[in-house]
Amino acid sequence: MDISPKLEAAINEQIGIEFSASHAYLSMSAYFERNAFDGFAQWMRLQSEEERVHAVKFYQYLIDRGGVVRLLAIEAPNWDFESVRSVFESSLAQEQSVTQHIYDLYKIAMDESDFATVSFLKWFVDEQVEEEKAVSDMIDKLKMAEGNPDSLLLLDRYALEQRASDASN
Ligand SMILES: [Fe+2]
Ligand SMILES: [Fe+2]
Repeated sequence: MDISPKLEAAINEQIGIEFSASHAYLSMSAYFERNAFDGFAQWMRLQSEEERVHAVKFYQYLIDRGGVVRLLAIEAPNWDFESVRSVFESSLAQEQSVTQHIYDLYKIAMDESDFATVSFLKWFVDEQVEEEKAVSDMIDKLKMAEGNPDSLLLLDRYALEQRASDASN
């Protein structure tokens, strides 16, 4: 069964959202590189790569379901930030917006009784829970480190180790 035009359009939009997220994370990574936060830079760099993988998952799914891929323009992301914490807060806002889009997709798939798409989307629903949690935890730690450069550097180190252990899992 081919995918409906409505779901096809919504998935094309989602591909654009994932690529935009990837772009935004790379820009955040560059900000951290400029400011000598190696761990946070690595965190955002890997995040950027993950979002690209998400985009390609949607892309492949659309092809597998007989849909037409129409890539959208990617907006220029923010490249300058006020603080480490403000970067992670932007990241959280971005993840929350992506979660909402995935829920919207899920709802369309349910309304259409397109259970293949519902099943496909479940992975993303779970992934968003993990991603929001990881970013929220980091924001909590950054709040504790506020005004303390030593703690901030420890967190930068922690971010590096955290992502290194993610990669080996
Ligand atoms: Fe994503
Ligand atoms: Fe994400």
